[in-house]
Order: sequence, then C-alpha cells, then structure tokens
Amino acid sequence: MAKPKNLILSSTVFERVVHWVLAGSCLFLFLTGFGLMFHSLSFIGNFFPGGHYIMKLLHNIVGIIFGIAFLFALIAWGKDTLYFDEDDKKWFRVMGGYLWEVEKVPEAGKFNAGQKMFFMVLFLFWFIMVGTGIFMWFPIFPPELTRWLYVLHALGVVVLGGFLVIHFYLGTYGNPGTFQVMGHGYVTKGWAKKHRSKWLRDVEAGRRSV
Ligand code: HEM
Repeated sequence: MAKPKNLILSSTVFERVVHWVLAGSCLFLFLTGFGLMFHSLSFIGNFFPGGHYIMKLLHNIVGIIFGIAFLFALIAWGKDTLYFDEDDKKWFRVMGGYLWEVEKVPEAGKFNAGQKMFFMVLFLFWFIMVGTGIFMWFPIFPPELTRWLYVLHALGVVVLGGFLVIHFYLGTYGNPGTFQVMGHGYVTKGWAKKHRSKWLRDVEAGRRSV
C-alpha cells in the first residue's frame, strides 16, 4: 500500500496478522471456555455441529493456535514492551492521565507504560493458561494437583478478561484514532505526536522504520 499523505505507518502487516490471530483465538477460547465451565452456558455447545464434544476439542486446538500466536507476538512487540524506562515510571505516577486531570502525560515510545504492562500480564498468563491447559487436557498429575490447575486456569480467565475489557475500550472508543492501527496500520502524525512522541521522533530521524 502506498503511503497516504500525512499518515505514518505504525503497524506492519506482520503485526496486524499476529494481532488478529491472537485476538480471534483468545476470544474464541473465552466463548467456548465459558461454555465448558458453566452448566448454565453449556448451550454454547449447541452452536457447534457435534455439540459439546466438538466445542471442547476446538477449545483445545484453538488453545494451541493461541499458544503459537503469542510466540509471534513476542517477535512483533517484545522489544518495545518488555521493559520500563524513566518516562514509564512517570507515566505510572499520573496513571497515564486516565484517572484524574494531569497537566502533561509523560512521553511514550511505540507503546505507553500501560500497554507494556498489558503485554507483560499477557505474557505471564499466556504461560499459565497454556501450561495449565496442557495438563488439564493430558492429566498426568494426581487428581488433587490437577484440580488446582483448573482453579489457576479459571483465575487466568478472570484476570485476562479484566485486562481485555480495558484493552478493547482503550483501543476503540477510549482513544479515537487508535483502532486503525490494527486496521490499515496507519495513524495521523497528530495522533502519533499525542500518543507516542518519542517513537515519532525516532521514525522521523530514521532511527527506526516502524
Ligand atoms: C477484539 C477486540 C480488540 C481490539 C479492538 C483491539 C485493538 C487493538 C489496537 C487498536 C491495538 C494497537 C494499539 C496501539 O498501537 O497503540 C492493539 C494492540 C495489541 N493488542 Fe489488541 N485488540 C483487541 C483484542 C486483543 C486481544 C484479545 C489480545 C490478546 C489476547 C490483544 C493483544 C494486543 C497486543 C499484545 C497489542 C500490542 C500492544 C499492547 O501491548 O497493547 N488484542 N489492539
């Protein structure tokens, strides 16, 4: 795609494909997971030809896709998210300007401190969910231990669910102009200046391409 005027590429095709595979698989896991976890929601299995059995099988298979997709997410975003710098500490002190009025929100690179924290939480819970999921699928441990894996898996749903609701809100209505990052990949320079000014300076100086 040719570079539109006044817009700047913020997310490569690779990043966008990884994002939507990760997001799609994660949402599918939530939906089918609720169908497996709660009797009152077991009707979700009726949407699958083959019913509950196929829903469980697909939950496990999509779990593998989610597990692999996160490895690509590490390649796409790991270098920009798995650390905090001085500006990030300042960002946390004012909570990014989201919770109360602040004069100036500290500058961010490609991702702000909140997004970095989201990625780190995702990393931790990717490990927990995939790890517990595998041993729930193949229960090689004693039943008492396997039961605790179920508890940990359910706890992961609660934590990830909370973070994803916030991620969804901030990526759409909460920050107008952001959703297009994961659509066509371009943002306006004004948006970049407001949300990731350090990154914009680096791109304009040729220190990084995206
Ligand atoms: C379906 C609803 C979703 C929407 C609307 C959405 C929207 C977005 C947007 C707009 C960005 C770019 C933010 C930026 O560059 O400033 C982004 C980044 C990202 N999204 Fe999503 N997303 C969704 C679901 C998910 C899910 C389910 C996951 C994970 C399982 C996920 C993981 C990520 C990650 C890791 C990033 C990279 C930056 C970061 O750490 O925040 N997204 N998303």
